[in-house]
Amino acid sequence: MQHRIAELRRLLDYHNHKYYVENAPEIDDITFDGLMRELQDLEQAHPEWDDPDSPTHRVGSDLTREFQSVEHLHPMLSLSNTYSREELGEFFDRVEREVEQAEYVAELKFDGTAISLIYQNGRLLRAVTRGDGVRGDDVTTNVRTIGSVPLRLTGDDYPEMFEIRGEILMPYASFDRLNEERMQSGEQLFANPRNAAAGSLKQQNPAVTAGRGLDCFLYFLVGDDLPFATHYDSLMAMRRWGFKVSERTTICHSRQEVYDYIDHIDELRHTLPFATDGVVIKVNSYANQRRLGFTAKSPRWAVAYKFKAEQAETRLCGVDFQVGRTGAITPVANLEPVQLAGTVVKRATLHNADQIAALDLRIGDIVYVEKGGEIIPKITGVDLSARPADSTPLQFIERCPQCGTPLVRPEGEAKHFCPNSSACPPQIVGRIVHFVGRKAMNIESLGDETIALLHSAGLVSDVADLYDLSAADIARLPRLGDRSAATIVANIADSTKVPFARVLFALGIRYVGETTAKSLAAHFGSIDALMSASAEELAETEDVGERIAESIVNFFADEQNRARVERLRAAGVQFEQQSKEPTSASLAGLSFVISGTFEEYGRDQLKEMIEQAGGRNVAAVSAKVDYLLAGDNMGPAKRAKAEKLGVKIIDINGFVEMLGVGKQPETPKPYAENTAIQGSLF
Ligand code: IVH
Repeated sequence: MQHRIAELRRLLDYHNHKYYVENAPEIDDITFDGLMRELQDLEQAHPEWDDPDSPTHRVGSDLTREFQSVEHLHPMLSLSNTYSREELGEFFDRVEREVEQAEYVAELKFDGTAISLIYQNGRLLRAVTRGDGVRGDDVTTNVRTIGSVPLRLTGDDYPEMFEIRGEILMPYASFDRLNEERMQSGEQLFANPRNAAAGSLKQQNPAVTAGRGLDCFLYFLVGDDLPFATHYDSLMAMRRWGFKVSERTTICHSRQEVYDYIDHIDELRHTLPFATDGVVIKVNSYANQRRLGFTAKSPRWAVAYKFKAEQAETRLCGVDFQVGRTGAITPVANLEPVQLAGTVVKRATLHNADQIAALDLRIGDIVYVEKGGEIIPKITGVDLSARPADSTPLQFIERCPQCGTPLVRPEGEAKHFCPNSSACPPQIVGRIVHFVGRKAMNIESLGDETIALLHSAGLVSDVADLYDLSAADIARLPRLGDRSAATIVANIADSTKVPFARVLFALGIRYVGETTAKSLAAHFGSIDALMSASAEELAETEDVGERIAESIVNFFADEQNRARVERLRAAGVQFEQQSKEPTSASLAGLSFVISGTFEEYGRDQLKEMIEQAGGRNVAAVSAKVDYLLAGDNMGPAKRAKAEKLGVKIIDINGFVEMLGVGKQPETPKPYAENTAIQGSLF
């Protein structure tokens, strides 16, 4: 058994590397998931063979903790920037005054967030953000979830301990998916992949980071006494050890070769799957790097050449005001079509009223449009010299452009909202579109247009109406025959099998995205428990802060929303978490409330353990509960209540004993206690 566990770990590490680092997967996702599941099952059955570096831990536990600020072993300096060939020429002059026959390495300048990784004996020990350059945040637990960061190195020629630096990025595909999800749940969008990558690294819950699709390129082996003569040799060794080193990295033997590289990358970067904002040029030989040394802020042996944010000038023809499913109003600029960074731009986002006022935009203005790291172009300024004499400032609308209701702007919000949620057509249609979406009820045959048709024909004005539709109703609509009507009705009926977590997401509660819905479903187990929870009880859930808790309470305080839940329930929609088949009966018939935090186990992990052993999870302490599983920082009120009601209180050791697991996994040594690292690196 132990042998199989080791073999599975090796196989999964190998295929992770193929997939994340080499982009050349050898097995399909289903086979990979099968191996992963086999390992998870074996590890669950044998916690004594747990290993913090096991590929299963990449998915992240759900422990919450604060980030620790730690000092960097070497300060993280930045690079000096150049924006023109001329400035770059000055860099070459400076280098070549001191160094003969300079050879350079030219690399992509990744537009993400810098990370410092420490490896000891081939294992990832610590990952720290740049912070202020001297101290950064210890984000090791989150970085461990990134597939392209090796937890164990391959080969045997790596130093016993070393620091390596690189960039954590969010590829455009992950970025688009994340923003789409955030839009669906009414959350603020990330402005660009760089912010999204940085935000994802600072999550309290590593499972959230794990789901964000981050990637990591390494570009710098740190140390004064490296076993290589050149930067390029280090990069090649890094690649051998399992790190992702960009294929675009090249040796340049002359200035001209660097200029050619820049031209090539400037073209190519529009086709790359992640954001780059320039090129980094480094002196290759370590001996020459040492000769050149550092200024207070940056190395004198390297420089960044930054691409200019691409800009175009065009005319602002008008502004549309779009109404989203939450009623939020988004102004969108209509532009005279203009060529920008390889695409024709016709529209640009204006975010909100404040931005329009700050730019003092007027119809007919010539505006500057930019596409920086951002995907959606934005207006960055106005050419005032070209402004028509008779122009007047643009007024933000006061009524909803769709239903005429006066708009409101809640305190503290940047956006205006149409409050007529129950009758404003784009809000109704938007809610239904969200409800049937792939990650929600997955009613595939119902497209946006069909939903709009159903709504305008008076057949649906609420998601619950979908379950009352007959094939005959639908077949009467234009362009929809008997066959598609039958498919739609069958798909709607099938959606009653969709699990509770997705139903919760489908309801469209503001700020409740996919991940939050999963946490809420696992924590409360049923819609009834959720609906009757107070804001404080809600905030005890993983990922749920005050703002989300309040939004949930408000949602269920609304009679219409409660009525909708009842109609959906009557239609057979799942409002309870289905428990998995238990694998043992050691807790059969017993109910548990989990409270506080646990060093070794995440909450959801504990809940799963209870269910697997035939027990039941309950959200709140009552006389019917058998055990209160008490962790750290459990509220005193909860303890008092349990004592008063005679509920038995057990700690994690007592619980594990009850399970019959016998032994907890060994605690990995925290970094602070590891004194070896304080010494010299190599
Ligand atoms: S080398 C001592 N190489 O740019 C210099 N940095 O402005 C170490 N960056 O903080 C940095 N791509 O986050 C280096 N190929 C690359 C890079 C790169 C992006 C970032 C990095 C750094 C910033 C410096």
